Amino acid sequence: MVFGSLFKTVPKGGGKILVAFASQTGAAERIAWLSANALATGLAKHRVSVAALGALTAAQIAGAGTLLVVTSTYGAGEAPDSARAFVRKQMAAAASFKGLDFAVLALGDRKYDATFCGFGKSLDRWLVAGKAKRLFDIVCVDGDDDDAAMTKWSEQLNRLGAETSAGQLMPGPPQDWLLAERRLLNPSSPGGETWHVALTPGNPAHLNWTAGDIAEIWPRNTDAAVAAFLARHGLDGGKSFRWRGQWTFLSDIIAHSRIPQDHEVEGIALDWLVERLEAFPHREYSIASLPGSGRMELLVRKAVKNDGSLGLGSGWLTHYAQPGGVIKLRLRPNPNFHPPADGPQILIGAGTGFAGLRAHLLHRQHKKLGEAWLLFGERSAATDIYYAEDIKAWQADGTLARTDMVFSRDSLPKRHVQHLVAERGTEICAWLERGASLLVCGGLDMAAGVQEALVAICGQDRLDRMTQAGLYRRDIY
Ligand SMILES: Cc1cc2nc3c(=O)[nH]c(=O)nc-3n(C[C@H](O)[C@H](O)[C@H](O)COP(=O)(O)OP(=O)(O)OC[C@H]3O[C@@H](n4cnc5c(N)ncnc54)[C@H](O)[C@@H]3O)c2cc1C
Ligand SMILES: Cc1cc2nc3c(=O)[nH]c(=O)nc-3n(C[C@H](O)[C@H](O)[C@H](O)COP(=O)(O)O)c2cc1C
Repeated sequence: MVFGSLFKTVPKGGGKILVAFASQTGAAERIAWLSANALATGLAKHRVSVAALGALTAAQIAGAGTLLVVTSTYGAGEAPDSARAFVRKQMAAAASFKGLDFAVLALGDRKYDATFCGFGKSLDRWLVAGKAKRLFDIVCVDGDDDDAAMTKWSEQLNRLGAETSAGQLMPGPPQDWLLAERRLLNPSSPGGETWHVALTPGNPAHLNWTAGDIAEIWPRNTDAAVAAFLARHGLDGGKSFRWRGQWTFLSDIIAHSRIPQDHEVEGIALDWLVERLEAFPHREYSIASLPGSGRMELLVRKAVKNDGSLGLGSGWLTHYAQPGGVIKLRLRPNPNFHPPADGPQILIGAGTGFAGLRAHLLHRQHKKLGEAWLLFGERSAATDIYYAEDIKAWQADGTLARTDMVFSRDSLPKRHVQHLVAERGTEICAWLERGASLLVCGGLDMAAGVQEALVAICGQDRLDRMTQAGLYRRDIY
């Protein structure tokens, strides 16, 4: 069992609390550790342990005394990867949790509507069905900046004897980076435009991440669009308002919100307008470089909507942001996609999934690990091989022992990377026998197809064991 402790010495007195987490991209794991820390160091000085939910059995949960679970939801209402075997093996059967007190903090995103916080809710129901007692109702969190939900959670922790606040549990403010370079990597591609976007930090101390980590970008409107809106309505952009917990200039608020239609503004008091503005959500991008290069590099597909307008985040990065201009972003550690133990490695991806794989290959090159096998899919060999120079260098210096690429528009019937995985089953099995880790990066459909092929090759049990051991890791979207 993966029990960890944040504390060098176990606090004396207090009750026993188990904080369990299930996280895909690190947010739930981070809040779990911070909540555990607050409980252990608060007035009540509980004895707190932290465990990955996926490493627990129903019997261990039943004996926990008090259980707090922090979990996200993935796919369509499913558990994060690390807890999927738990769902199949533990949650499939009824269990008895008499005497267990529990609460769930469920992270999610309301844009997933019907499956909002779906896994957290199923877990909550499963525990209640086993006669566990809720300490308080499930708290559902919408995105990273849900101050109201995190306030509820922190207040409940404080009732249990912690001393914390929403501000301490939520991720910090964004950092300023500068757009240093932007280059179209696939002119004349039959698919969407893919851009190399390089950023330099306003503060060099921000060059601090690990292969697998994610950049959360704050998309915004252009200065020109903001100025035009303010001028049209005779508004002073220098006026400050309390917005998302901070005093902010009106011009900055408009920059980071959907600009209202004129009829939504007319006759409305400014305070009321600011309160009703729809703040832009963040957008996540897998980081494609290592901090040693001095630059954060991203591989961004420009999303174009049916009406020809650009996607919010990709439009900002690939079109509207000006070279030399500020890009606001927050680094998100993504422990579930950090480099596994050194050893042979199979890297599988498609499209912009090359971003996350590139960071890992750069890491392996730096550590001279060798023995990596890249399986990659895109549309056309003539236009869609990204970072061909890097690939050549990795092949030349032994970082890549093997490279297999498949291009869907170059063959009929279309073949994708999951077909390649299925075709290479025997060799993949041999690599896994030698202890190879598996990394998958890219879109959900590709990842589901690859997973299906891998299950056919080596069986669900083996994949479950590899997931638990941190040898099968995915960064998927
Ligand atoms: C962990 C993670 C890592 C990621 N890494 C990368 C990466 O490395 N590279 C990358 O390119 N992306 C990556 N993504 C995806 C990225 O975060 C964005 O989802 C992607 O760029 C699209 O966002 P957008 O804001 O540009 O588009 P959005 O504005 O969200 O639109 C996206 C699509 O939704 C549809 N759509 C949305 N609104 C409308 C509307 N009003 N009318 C019609 N259609 C609509 C359209 O099909 C549009 O193309 C990652 C995501 C995650 C979660
Ligand atoms: C591909 C993908 C699928 C998701 N599916 C859901 C979903 O079905 N329901 C939901 O409420 N949130 C969904 N989310 C949102 C995540 O649960 C949310 O971003 C959460 O904060 C992530 O926490 P984590 O970093 O601990 O995994 C999804 C996010 C991604 C990237």
